[in-house]
Amino acid sequence: DWSMAHFKSEMVHKIKKQVGLDRVICGLSGGVDSAVTAVLIHEAIGEQLTCIFVDHGLMRLNEADEVVRLFREAYNIPLVHVDASKLFLRELEGVTDPEKKRKIIGKLFIDVFEAEAKKIGGAAYLAQGTLYPDVIESVSFTGGPSVTIKSHHNVGGLPERMNMKLVEPLRELFKDEVRLLGKELGLPPHFVGRHPFPGPGLAIRIPHDDITQEKLDILRKADAIYLDEIRKAGLYDAIWQAFAVLLPVRTVGVMGDGRTYDRVLGLRAVTSTDGMTAESYPFDHAFLARVATRIINEVKGVSRVVYDVTSKPPGTIEWE
Ligand code: XMP
Repeated sequence: DWSMAHFKSEMVHKIKKQVGLDRVICGLSGGVDSAVTAVLIHEAIGEQLTCIFVDHGLMRLNEADEVVRLFREAYNIPLVHVDASKLFLRELEGVTDPEKKRKIIGKLFIDVFEAEAKKIGGAAYLAQGTLYPDVIESVSFTGGPSVTIKSHHNVGGLPERMNMKLVEPLRELFKDEVRLLGKELGLPPHFVGRHPFPGPGLAIRIPHDDITQEKLDILRKADAIYLDEIRKAGLYDAIWQAFAVLLPVRTVGVMGDGRTYDRVLGLRAVTSTDGMTAESYPFDHAFLARVATRIINEVKGVSRVVYDVTSKPPGTIEWE
């Protein structure tokens, strides 16, 4: 793509000019935006960039490994990988309120990030994968989840606390353009095409309930089966975001000779262009039945599967 190639070389030039000989730290979230930001900056300033990946243990199946492998092996970008999952789980113990979950995760994330940044001697610049819609949302919204999105997603407060200046090379781009830029930078198509994933991760997909390792394991397994079937059906790229939600409800079921009294799992899939509005994806009934059968057979702890047909608005994409 000619215009993206042009944009890329222009950005590389701008980053070099802005940063000079100083060091840059970039927080990786596992998502597309921070990955593209990091690879672009690496192209501009090479070893002056260090990435920090705070693994909160709330990612999808295998996601953390994929990120680490991609950065260390494919790109050879210096990467600090902190497995902080025990710490996050401990601090989230007993917490059911969604905004509290978000606040705890956001604060811990910054604490761990700051500690790691200090360990490597700090940096003059912090790189962030802020997109154009984030820039708009942060000024036009006065409540609801968008404000919270900023506070976690963009490591809010850290630049001031650590006296760092910001590098935000994606500020003028929309999501689809970030994906094009990622391709231009040679990121693998399956990585670039990944569905968006919220900063607080699976913690907000166990709604109205506390987070435990057991619930996370159930949800991760079910979510992976759902996404696997979506990929096999060739529908992954037609969908903006698809995921499973583990509900705080138990219902009766029959398994073999016995009765079960296990959890309900919600499935969500939406089409959207920017996440601001969304429509439920119209799967075939046969597809949904196949997913439900697999999940109930393969995931212990789930006895019923339901599909969410709500649009945004009035619904939201996430369940909490
Ligand atoms: P909603 O649920 O508000 O989500 O319709 C819109 C988009 O934002 C994501 N989302 C979040 N992202 N931190 C994030 O980084 C959050 O707390 C958060 N909550 C929602 C959501 O996955 C969707 O892409």
